[in-house]
Amino acid sequence: MKDNAVDTVASVPVAVVGAGPAGLMLAHLLGRAGVEAIVVDTRSRREIESTQRAGILEAGTARDLVETGVGDRILREGHEHEGIELRFGGRPHRIHFKELVGASTWLYPQTEVFIDLADARARDGGTVHFGIRDTEVLDVTTRAPRVRFTAPDGARHEIRARYVVGADGSRSMCRELVPQERRVRYGKDYPYAWFGILAEAPASAPELVYADSEHGFALISRRTDAVQRMYFQCDPHESPGDWPDDRIWETLQARVAGEDGFRLHEGPVLEKTVLRFRSFVQEPMRWGSMALAGDAAHTVPPTGARGLNLALHDVKVLADVLLRALSGAGDAVLDEYQPRALQRVWRAQNFSSWMTRLLHTAPGATPFDRRRQLGELDNVVGTRAGRAYLAEQYTGWPSGSPA
Ligand code: DHB
Repeated sequence: MKDNAVDTVASVPVAVVGAGPAGLMLAHLLGRAGVEAIVVDTRSRREIESTQRAGILEAGTARDLVETGVGDRILREGHEHEGIELRFGGRPHRIHFKELVGASTWLYPQTEVFIDLADARARDGGTVHFGIRDTEVLDVTTRAPRVRFTAPDGARHEIRARYVVGADGSRSMCRELVPQERRVRYGKDYPYAWFGILAEAPASAPELVYADSEHGFALISRRTDAVQRMYFQCDPHESPGDWPDDRIWETLQARVAGEDGFRLHEGPVLEKTVLRFRSFVQEPMRWGSMALAGDAAHTVPPTGARGLNLALHDVKVLADVLLRALSGAGDAVLDEYQPRALQRVWRAQNFSSWMTRLLHTAPGATPFDRRRQLGELDNVVGTRAGRAYLAEQYTGWPSGSPA
Protein backbone atom coordinates (compact mmCIF):
# COMPACT_ATOMS: atom_id res chain seq x y z
CA MET A 1 0.00 0.00 0.00
CA LYS A 2 1.34 3.46 -0.88
CA ASP A 3 2.05 5.53 2.22
CA ASN A 4 -0.53 8.15 1.32
CA ALA A 5 -3.24 5.71 0.31
CA VAL A 6 -6.21 6.24 2.59
CA ASP A 7 -9.84 5.48 1.96
CA THR A 8 -11.37 8.10 4.24
CA VAL A 9 -10.20 11.49 5.43
CA ALA A 10 -11.95 13.30 8.29
CA SER A 11 -11.09 16.79 9.48
CA VAL A 12 -11.86 17.68 13.10
CA PRO A 13 -10.38 20.07 15.64
CA VAL A 14 -9.14 17.30 17.96
CA ALA A 15 -8.07 13.69 17.40
CA VAL A 16 -7.77 11.53 20.52
CA VAL A 17 -5.71 8.34 20.69
CA GLY A 18 -7.14 6.11 23.41
CA ALA A 19 -10.78 5.47 24.28
CA GLY A 20 -10.35 4.86 27.99
CA PRO A 21 -12.06 7.20 30.45
CA ALA A 22 -9.57 10.04 29.78
CA GLY A 23 -9.99 10.04 26.00
CA LEU A 24 -13.76 9.61 26.10
CA MET A 25 -14.26 12.21 28.82
CA LEU A 26 -12.18 14.71 26.85
CA ALA A 27 -14.30 14.09 23.74
CA HIS A 28 -17.42 14.44 25.88
CA LEU A 29 -16.31 17.76 27.41
CA LEU A 30 -15.30 19.15 24.00
CA GLY A 31 -18.55 17.90 22.46
CA ARG A 32 -20.58 19.73 25.10
CA ALA A 33 -18.89 22.93 23.94
CA GLY A 34 -19.65 22.15 20.28
CA VAL A 35 -16.13 21.01 19.37
CA GLU A 36 -15.86 17.67 17.62
CA ALA A 37 -13.24 15.10 18.54
CA ILE A 38 -12.71 11.68 16.97
CA VAL A 39 -11.43 9.01 19.34
CA VAL A 40 -9.58 5.83 18.31
CA ASP A 41 -8.47 2.76 20.26
CA THR A 42 -6.75 -0.48 19.36
CA ARG A 43 -8.95 -2.38 21.81
CA SER A 44 -12.53 -3.38 21.14
CA ARG A 45 -15.27 -1.99 23.34
CA ARG A 46 -15.78 -5.46 24.82
CA GLU A 47 -12.10 -5.78 25.66
CA ILE A 48 -12.10 -2.49 27.55
CA GLU A 49 -15.35 -3.35 29.31
CA SER A 50 -14.02 -6.65 30.55
CA THR A 51 -10.78 -5.28 32.03
CA GLN A 52 -10.93 -4.90 35.79
CA ARG A 53 -9.70 -1.56 37.06
CA ALA A 54 -9.94 0.32 40.34
CA GLY A 55 -13.21 1.40 41.83
CA ILE A 56 -12.95 4.63 43.78
CA LEU A 57 -14.02 8.10 42.65
CA GLU A 58 -13.03 11.18 44.58
CA ALA A 59 -16.06 13.32 45.48
CA GLY A 60 -14.88 15.95 42.96
CA THR A 61 -14.55 13.36 40.19
CA ALA A 62 -18.04 12.03 40.87
CA ARG A 63 -19.39 15.60 40.89
CA ASP A 64 -17.71 16.42 37.56
CA LEU A 65 -19.21 13.29 35.96
CA VAL A 66 -22.67 14.07 37.35
CA GLU A 67 -22.57 17.75 36.40
CA THR A 68 -21.57 16.99 32.82
CA GLY A 69 -24.39 14.48 32.33
CA VAL A 70 -22.49 11.19 32.57
CA GLY A 71 -22.95 10.38 36.24
CA ASP A 72 -26.60 9.41 36.74
CA ARG A 73 -25.67 5.80 37.41
CA ILE A 74 -23.09 6.82 40.01
CA LEU A 75 -25.91 8.31 42.09
CA ARG A 76 -28.20 5.34 41.47
CA GLU A 77 -25.81 2.40 41.63
CA GLY A 78 -22.63 3.71 43.28
CA HIS A 79 -22.01 3.70 47.02
CA GLU A 80 -20.94 6.80 48.87
CA HIS A 81 -18.26 5.94 51.43
CA GLU A 82 -17.64 8.26 54.34
CA GLY A 83 -14.43 6.56 55.35
CA ILE A 84 -12.15 3.55 55.17
CA GLU A 85 -10.88 1.03 57.66
CA LEU A 86 -7.17 0.57 58.28
CA ARG A 87 -6.39 -2.74 59.97
CA PHE A 88 -3.06 -3.46 61.58
CA GLY A 89 -1.90 -5.35 64.63
CA GLY A 90 -5.14 -7.31 64.21
CA ARG A 91 -7.27 -4.24 65.05
CA PRO A 92 -9.65 -2.11 63.00
CA HIS A 93 -9.22 1.68 62.86
CA ARG A 94 -11.82 3.75 61.07
CA ILE A 95 -10.75 6.88 59.24
CA HIS A 96 -13.92 8.95 59.09
CA PHE A 97 -13.38 11.22 56.07
CA LYS A 98 -16.65 13.07 56.41
CA GLU A 99 -16.03 13.98 60.03
CA LEU A 100 -12.36 14.83 59.49
CA VAL A 101 -12.44 16.82 56.25
CA GLY A 102 -16.09 16.98 55.23
CA ALA A 103 -15.55 14.88 52.10
CA SER A 104 -16.42 11.38 50.97
CA THR A 105 -15.61 9.04 48.09
CA TRP A 106 -17.75 6.93 45.76
CA LEU A 107 -17.33 3.25 45.09
CA TYR A 108 -18.05 3.07 41.35
CA PRO A 109 -15.79 0.91 39.17
CA GLN A 110 -13.77 2.45 36.35
CA THR A 111 -15.32 -0.06 33.94
CA GLU A 112 -18.72 1.48 34.65
CA VAL A 113 -17.33 4.99 34.08
CA PHE A 114 -16.05 3.76 30.72
CA ILE A 115 -19.47 2.30 29.82
CA ASP A 116 -21.24 5.54 30.77
CA LEU A 117 -18.83 7.61 28.69
CA ALA A 118 -18.94 5.27 25.67
CA ASP A 119 -22.76 5.28 25.82
CA ALA A 120 -22.74 9.09 26.01
CA ARG A 121 -20.51 9.31 22.92
CA ALA A 122 -22.90 7.01 21.04
CA ARG A 123 -25.94 8.96 22.27
CA ASP A 124 -24.42 12.32 21.33
CA GLY A 125 -23.29 11.20 17.88
CA GLY A 126 -19.56 11.30 18.70
CA THR A 127 -17.24 9.13 16.60
CA VAL A 128 -15.21 6.45 18.38
CA HIS A 129 -13.30 3.84 16.35
CA PHE A 130 -12.64 0.77 18.50
CA GLY A 131 -10.51 -2.19 17.45
CA ILE A 132 -8.24 -0.28 15.06
CA ARG A 133 -4.68 -1.28 14.07
CA ASP A 134 -1.57 0.18 12.39
CA THR A 135 -1.99 3.48 14.26
CA GLU A 136 0.35 6.26 13.14
CA VAL A 137 0.45 9.71 14.70
CA LEU A 138 2.12 12.14 12.30
CA ASP A 139 3.32 15.74 12.15
CA VAL A 140 2.77 16.57 15.81
CA THR A 141 5.26 19.43 15.66
CA THR A 142 3.23 21.15 12.94
CA ARG A 143 -0.14 22.89 13.11
CA ALA A 144 -1.70 20.04 11.11
CA PRO A 145 -1.10 16.76 12.95
CA ARG A 146 -2.72 13.57 11.59
CA VAL A 147 -3.71 10.18 12.89
CA ARG A 148 -3.83 7.26 10.47
CA PHE A 149 -5.17 3.82 11.17
CA THR A 150 -6.81 0.74 9.75
CA ALA A 151 -10.39 0.14 10.85
CA PRO A 152 -11.61 -3.39 11.73
CA ASP A 153 -13.15 -3.66 8.21
CA GLY A 154 -9.72 -3.05 6.65
CA ALA A 155 -10.40 0.53 5.50
CA ARG A 156 -7.53 3.01 5.91
CA HIS A 157 -8.55 6.22 7.68
CA GLU A 158 -6.84 9.53 8.20
CA ILE A 159 -7.94 12.12 10.75
CA ARG A 160 -6.65 15.62 10.13
CA ALA A 161 -6.76 17.68 13.29
CA ARG A 162 -5.50 20.89 14.84
CA TYR A 163 -4.54 19.06 18.03
CA VAL A 164 -3.85 15.45 18.92
CA VAL A 165 -4.24 14.06 22.42
CA GLY A 166 -2.40 10.93 23.51
CA ALA A 167 -4.66 9.29 26.10
CA ASP A 168 -3.35 5.87 25.18
CA GLY A 169 -2.56 4.46 28.57
CA SER A 170 0.47 3.18 30.41
CA ARG A 171 1.97 1.61 27.27
CA SER A 172 1.45 4.83 25.31
CA MET A 173 2.84 5.11 21.79
CA CYS A 174 2.14 8.85 21.75
CA ARG A 175 4.56 9.62 24.55
CA GLU A 176 7.35 8.10 22.43
CA LEU A 177 6.83 10.97 19.95
CA VAL A 178 8.44 13.40 22.34
CA PRO A 179 12.10 13.14 21.26
CA GLN A 180 14.26 11.28 23.72
CA GLU A 181 16.57 14.24 24.26
CA ARG A 182 13.62 16.53 25.06
CA ARG A 183 11.77 14.35 27.55
CA VAL A 184 12.42 13.42 31.14
CA ARG A 185 11.08 10.24 32.69
CA TYR A 186 10.78 9.85 36.43
CA GLY A 187 9.97 6.43 37.78
CA LYS A 188 10.15 3.90 40.51
CA ASP A 189 9.50 0.17 40.58
CA TYR A 190 8.27 -1.68 43.65
CA PRO A 191 9.42 -5.10 44.82
CA TYR A 192 5.84 -6.36 45.13
CA ALA A 193 2.63 -6.62 43.15
CA TRP A 194 -1.06 -7.18 43.85
CA PHE A 195 -2.91 -10.41 43.32
CA GLY A 196 -6.42 -9.25 42.40
CA ILE A 197 -9.53 -11.40 42.51
CA LEU A 198 -13.22 -11.11 41.78
CA ALA A 199 -15.23 -13.46 43.96
CA GLU A 200 -18.86 -14.43 44.06
CA ALA A 201 -19.67 -13.78 47.70
CA PRO A 202 -21.60 -11.34 49.86
CA ALA A 203 -19.78 -8.19 51.02
CA SER A 204 -17.65 -8.66 54.12
CA ALA A 205 -17.49 -5.02 55.21
CA PRO A 206 -19.54 -1.87 54.55
CA GLU A 207 -16.49 0.15 53.47
CA LEU A 208 -13.03 -0.58 52.09
CA VAL A 209 -10.59 -2.36 54.38
CA TYR A 210 -6.86 -1.72 53.91
CA ALA A 211 -5.04 -4.32 55.99
CA ASP A 212 -1.40 -4.49 57.00
CA SER A 213 -0.31 -7.72 58.65
CA GLU A 214 2.73 -9.80 59.44
CA HIS A 215 1.84 -11.73 56.27
CA GLY A 216 1.65 -8.64 54.02
CA PHE A 217 -1.00 -6.28 52.68
CA ALA A 218 -4.61 -6.99 51.69
CA LEU A 219 -7.41 -4.77 50.40
CA ILE A 220 -11.08 -5.66 50.64
CA SER A 221 -13.23 -3.80 48.13
CA ARG A 222 -16.46 -4.67 46.36
CA ARG A 223 -18.21 -4.54 43.03
CA THR A 224 -21.85 -5.47 43.61
CA ASP A 225 -23.85 -7.01 46.44
CA ALA A 226 -22.95 -10.44 45.05
CA VAL A 227 -19.43 -9.88 43.62
CA GLN A 228 -16.47 -8.70 45.65
CA ARG A 229 -13.08 -7.32 44.61
CA MET A 230 -10.06 -8.11 46.77
CA TYR A 231 -6.31 -7.82 46.47
CA PHE A 232 -3.31 -9.08 48.38
CA GLN A 233 0.35 -8.25 48.14
CA CYS A 234 2.37 -10.85 46.23
CA ASP A 235 5.64 -11.33 44.42
CA PRO A 236 5.63 -9.58 41.01
CA HIS A 237 6.49 -12.90 39.33
CA GLU A 238 3.62 -14.82 40.91
CA SER A 239 1.50 -16.79 38.48
CA PRO A 240 -2.33 -16.88 38.93
CA GLY A 241 -2.34 -20.53 37.88
CA ASP A 242 -0.49 -21.46 41.09
CA TRP A 243 -3.34 -20.13 43.19
CA PRO A 244 -6.32 -22.46 43.68
CA ASP A 245 -9.26 -20.84 45.50
CA ASP A 246 -8.38 -22.43 48.86
CA ARG A 247 -4.93 -20.94 48.85
CA ILE A 248 -6.31 -17.50 47.96
CA TRP A 249 -8.86 -17.54 50.79
CA GLU A 250 -6.34 -18.82 53.31
CA THR A 251 -3.98 -15.99 52.35
CA LEU A 252 -6.65 -13.30 52.51
CA GLN A 253 -8.11 -14.56 55.81
CA ALA A 254 -4.66 -14.59 57.44
CA ARG A 255 -4.08 -10.98 56.43
CA VAL A 256 -7.32 -9.60 57.81
CA ALA A 257 -7.52 -11.81 60.92
CA GLY A 258 -7.65 -10.03 64.26
CA GLU A 259 -8.79 -9.99 67.84
CA ASP A 260 -12.26 -8.83 66.72
CA GLY A 261 -12.71 -12.16 64.90
CA PHE A 262 -13.19 -10.50 61.52
CA ARG A 263 -13.52 -12.99 58.66
CA LEU A 264 -14.23 -12.63 54.97
CA HIS A 265 -17.23 -14.26 53.33
CA GLU A 266 -15.79 -16.76 50.87
CA GLY A 267 -17.09 -17.91 47.50
CA PRO A 268 -15.98 -19.06 44.04
CA VAL A 269 -13.13 -16.98 42.61
CA LEU A 270 -14.28 -15.70 39.20
CA GLU A 271 -11.09 -13.98 38.07
CA LYS A 272 -7.45 -13.82 39.14
CA THR A 273 -4.79 -11.36 37.91
CA VAL A 274 -1.38 -10.21 39.04
CA LEU A 275 -1.04 -6.43 38.82
CA ARG A 276 2.50 -5.15 38.49
CA PHE A 277 2.81 -1.59 39.64
CA ARG A 278 5.10 1.38 39.37
CA SER A 279 5.30 5.13 39.73
CA PHE A 280 6.00 7.00 36.49
CA VAL A 281 5.85 10.54 35.10
CA GLN A 282 6.96 11.82 31.72
CA GLU A 283 7.50 15.51 31.14
CA PRO A 284 6.69 17.50 29.11
CA MET A 285 2.98 16.65 28.91
CA ARG A 286 2.72 18.64 25.68
CA TRP A 287 4.82 18.46 22.55
CA GLY A 288 3.92 20.79 19.69
CA SER A 289 0.31 20.12 18.76
CA MET A 290 0.11 17.00 20.94
CA ALA A 291 -0.80 16.72 24.62
CA LEU A 292 -0.57 13.61 26.79
CA ALA A 293 -3.24 12.79 29.37
CA GLY A 294 -3.81 10.14 32.02
CA ASP A 295 -1.64 7.03 32.23
CA ALA A 296 0.16 7.99 29.00
CA ALA A 297 1.85 10.76 30.97
CA HIS A 298 1.86 9.30 34.48
CA THR A 299 1.16 6.08 36.33
CA VAL A 300 0.67 5.60 40.05
CA PRO A 301 0.69 2.40 42.08
CA PRO A 302 -2.90 1.31 42.77
CA THR A 303 -2.95 1.91 46.54
CA GLY A 304 -5.44 4.71 47.14
CA ALA A 305 -6.96 4.41 43.64
CA ARG A 306 -5.76 7.74 42.26
CA GLY A 307 -5.21 6.74 38.60
CA LEU A 308 -8.67 7.34 37.15
CA ASN A 309 -9.17 10.48 39.22
CA LEU A 310 -5.90 11.93 37.97
CA ALA A 311 -6.69 11.08 34.36
CA LEU A 312 -10.08 12.77 34.57
CA HIS A 313 -8.52 15.82 36.18
CA ASP A 314 -5.97 16.05 33.34
CA VAL A 315 -8.71 16.14 30.72
CA LYS A 316 -10.78 18.64 32.65
CA VAL A 317 -7.83 21.06 32.49
CA LEU A 318 -7.02 20.04 28.94
CA ALA A 319 -10.58 20.60 27.69
CA ASP A 320 -10.53 24.10 29.17
CA VAL A 321 -7.19 24.91 27.55
CA LEU A 322 -8.02 23.35 24.16
CA LEU A 323 -11.36 25.17 23.94
CA ARG A 324 -9.64 28.48 24.58
CA ALA A 325 -6.86 27.67 22.11
CA LEU A 326 -9.39 26.75 19.43
CA SER A 327 -11.51 29.83 19.95
CA GLY A 328 -8.76 32.25 19.14
CA ALA A 329 -6.30 32.24 22.03
CA GLY A 330 -3.90 30.04 20.04
CA ASP A 331 -1.14 27.71 21.14
CA ALA A 332 0.12 29.97 23.93
CA VAL A 333 -2.67 28.88 26.33
CA LEU A 334 -1.55 25.27 25.94
CA ASP A 335 1.40 26.23 28.13
CA GLU A 336 -1.04 26.34 31.05
CA TYR A 337 -1.85 22.65 30.76
CA GLN A 338 1.26 21.08 32.23
CA PRO A 339 1.63 23.21 35.37
CA ARG A 340 -2.09 22.95 36.20
CA ALA A 341 -2.15 19.19 35.67
CA LEU A 342 1.25 18.36 37.13
CA GLN A 343 0.69 19.93 40.51
CA ARG A 344 -1.95 17.30 41.22
CA VAL A 345 0.06 14.57 39.51
CA TRP A 346 2.98 15.01 41.91
CA ARG A 347 0.69 15.29 44.91
CA ALA A 348 -0.88 12.01 43.82
CA GLN A 349 2.52 10.45 43.14
CA ASN A 350 3.51 11.31 46.67
CA PHE A 351 0.27 10.07 48.21
CA SER A 352 0.17 6.81 46.23
CA SER A 353 3.74 5.93 47.00
CA TRP A 354 3.34 6.98 50.65
CA MET A 355 0.23 4.84 51.12
CA THR A 356 1.91 1.95 49.30
CA ARG A 357 4.96 2.05 51.57
CA LEU A 358 2.79 2.58 54.65
CA LEU A 359 0.91 -0.67 54.09
CA HIS A 360 3.27 -3.08 52.31
CA THR A 361 6.13 -5.07 53.69
CA ALA A 362 9.12 -5.03 51.37
CA PRO A 363 11.04 -8.30 50.95
CA GLY A 364 14.13 -8.03 53.12
CA ALA A 365 12.54 -5.58 55.56
CA THR A 366 14.40 -5.68 58.88
CA PRO A 367 12.71 -5.93 62.29
CA PHE A 368 13.54 -2.23 62.68
CA ASP A 369 11.77 -1.40 59.40
CA ARG A 370 8.73 -3.33 60.55
CA ARG A 371 8.52 -1.68 64.00
CA ARG A 372 9.01 1.76 62.40
CA GLN A 373 6.21 1.04 59.96
CA LEU A 374 3.87 0.09 62.81
CA GLY A 375 4.91 3.32 64.52
CA GLU A 376 3.93 5.25 61.42
CA LEU A 377 0.57 3.47 61.19
CA ASP A 378 0.00 4.27 64.85
CA ASN A 379 0.84 7.94 64.15
CA VAL A 380 -1.65 7.98 61.28
CA VAL A 381 -4.59 6.48 63.18
CA GLY A 382 -3.68 7.72 66.65
CA THR A 383 -3.43 11.45 65.99
CA ARG A 384 -6.08 13.75 64.59
CA ALA A 385 -3.53 15.32 62.24
CA GLY A 386 -2.54 11.86 60.97
CA ARG A 387 -6.12 10.82 60.31
CA ALA A 388 -6.93 14.19 58.71
CA TYR A 389 -3.87 13.93 56.46
CA LEU A 390 -4.96 10.53 55.16
CA ALA A 391 -8.58 11.70 54.79
CA GLU A 392 -7.61 14.86 52.91
CA GLN A 393 -5.26 13.06 50.54
CA TYR A 394 -7.57 10.11 49.89
CA THR A 395 -10.63 12.23 49.10
CA GLY A 396 -8.71 14.38 46.62
CA TRP A 397 -7.45 17.88 46.06
CA PRO A 398 -9.05 20.96 44.58
CA SER A 399 -8.53 21.45 40.85
CA GLY A 400 -5.02 22.65 40.04
CA SER A 401 -4.27 26.26 39.33
CA PRO A 402 -0.96 27.43 37.87
CA ALA A 403 1.70 27.38 40.61
C1 DHB B 1 -9.95 -0.52 44.53
C2 DHB B 1 -8.67 -0.43 44.06
C3 DHB B 1 -7.74 0.32 44.74
O1 DHB B 1 -6.48 0.42 44.28
C4 DHB B 1 -8.07 0.98 45.91
O2 DHB B 1 -7.12 1.67 46.57
C5 DHB B 1 -9.35 0.90 46.36
C6 DHB B 1 -10.29 0.14 45.68
C7 DHB B 1 -10.96 -1.33 43.80
O3 DHB B 1 -10.60 -1.94 42.80
O4 DHB B 1 -12.12 -1.38 44.23
